[in-house]
Amino acid sequence: MSSKIKLGIIGGGGDSLIGVLHRIASFINDNYEIVGAVFNPVWEENIGFAEKIGVNTNRIYPDFDTFIAKEMALPSSERIEVVSVLTPNFLHFPMAKKLIENGFNVICEKPLTTTFDEAIILQKALEKAKTIFAVTYTYTGYPMVRQMREMIKNGEIGDIQKVDIQYYQGWINPIIHKKELRSTIWRLDPKKAGISCCIGDIGTHAFNMAEYLTGLEIKSVLADLNYLYEDNSLDIDGTVLIRYSENVKGVIRTSQIATGEENGLQVKIYGTKGGLKWEQENPNFLAVLSEDKPLQIYKPGHAYNCELSVNGTKLPPGHPEGIFDAMANIYLGVSKAIRKQPYNLGEFPLMNDGVRGMKFIEQCVKSHKDGNVWVAL
Ligand SMILES: NC(=O)c1ccc[n+]([C@@H]2O[C@H](COP(=O)([O-])OP(=O)(O)OC[C@H]3O[C@@H](n4cnc5c(N)ncnc54)[C@H](O)[C@@H]3O)[C@@H](O)[C@H]2O)c1
Repeated sequence: MSSKIKLGIIGGGGDSLIGVLHRIASFINDNYEIVGAVFNPVWEENIGFAEKIGVNTNRIYPDFDTFIAKEMALPSSERIEVVSVLTPNFLHFPMAKKLIENGFNVICEKPLTTTFDEAIILQKALEKAKTIFAVTYTYTGYPMVRQMREMIKNGEIGDIQKVDIQYYQGWINPIIHKKELRSTIWRLDPKKAGISCCIGDIGTHAFNMAEYLTGLEIKSVLADLNYLYEDNSLDIDGTVLIRYSENVKGVIRTSQIATGEENGLQVKIYGTKGGLKWEQENPNFLAVLSEDKPLQIYKPGHAYNCELSVNGTKLPPGHPEGIFDAMANIYLGVSKAIRKQPYNLGEFPLMNDGVRGMKFIEQCVKSHKDGNVWVAL
């Protein structure tokens, strides 16, 4: 019998953006097997997609409630062990809650929920169930991001004094100026996305980077968001000043109307002894800055990198790995937790990271609506 972890998938169908990333990621380290799913709420598309990609159709269920009922009726040795929730935002909370309450481990897409209150309910449910829960802030899976985290933790750039995270995309520009197109996008619909588009969708990744890398909590934010049109109810651009403390400050700059930009996440962190710069579109190069040495470029897979980073590469240096591998590293961390093997806390984002993300989204919107004022996180 296969020792692979039995994985279920909710959402992430053939029509989705993120489904393929999770499916490939789950295969990369040969440690998961997709054994059941509800890929799509439309049955023909759901079953058709399962047939196309070769998932056993006996465990393709018509909807989420049937998924839970049928899986719970199976002996625990046959039951799905972990479920990836890859649906639009508003479904994360009800689905993750029911999964946790029925004892499933969960890999949930970000943002964790649509409100901070929902996130707290999930957190409490998880404390009771004591199952494994990961939130897929994908960028934490990159070897060079992990290297940055360990270098900062080891004091290699000294005390942090300035953090600048930019996440610019342009994909909403051709949509936002045409009212009839806006309603075709769930990310611009508050019932499906929550109270924010840009900050909720990508600002939350930037915020996670700002806390994951520095190991510091952001204490307050001041946000200036842009909605462009009065009849557009969710932000599509925003600049957020962040304060970790009186002496540690920074900025998160996000946009989905940065015309022509693709997936431009850029991280710059400066300490008393040096700086680190990394960008998602060139993820295999980490710039290490100092005052008295020439610029150094670190690359993945070399023995000079830390264990957390080296363990996130599969091939010798010079074989570029990317976003699929980053997500696979998160899946690898989760598999260790499920199999009760030792793992580094940097290997996958936890429930608390998702909860912090929800607080960030809510407080950014509050800061903006209250007149661009500082609010505590
Ligand atoms: N981690 C990342 O970097 C990253 C990147 C993109 C998207 N996401 C997140 O992933 C989630 C999905 O985003 P997307 O862009 O793939 O959305 P999408 O609209 O492209 O796909 C959503 C999928 O969910 C399915 N679905 C909808 N309702 C369902 C239901 N009731 N039951 C089962 N399936 C259902 C749809 O059929 C579709 O296949 C969002 O929460 C988003 O924020 C994360």
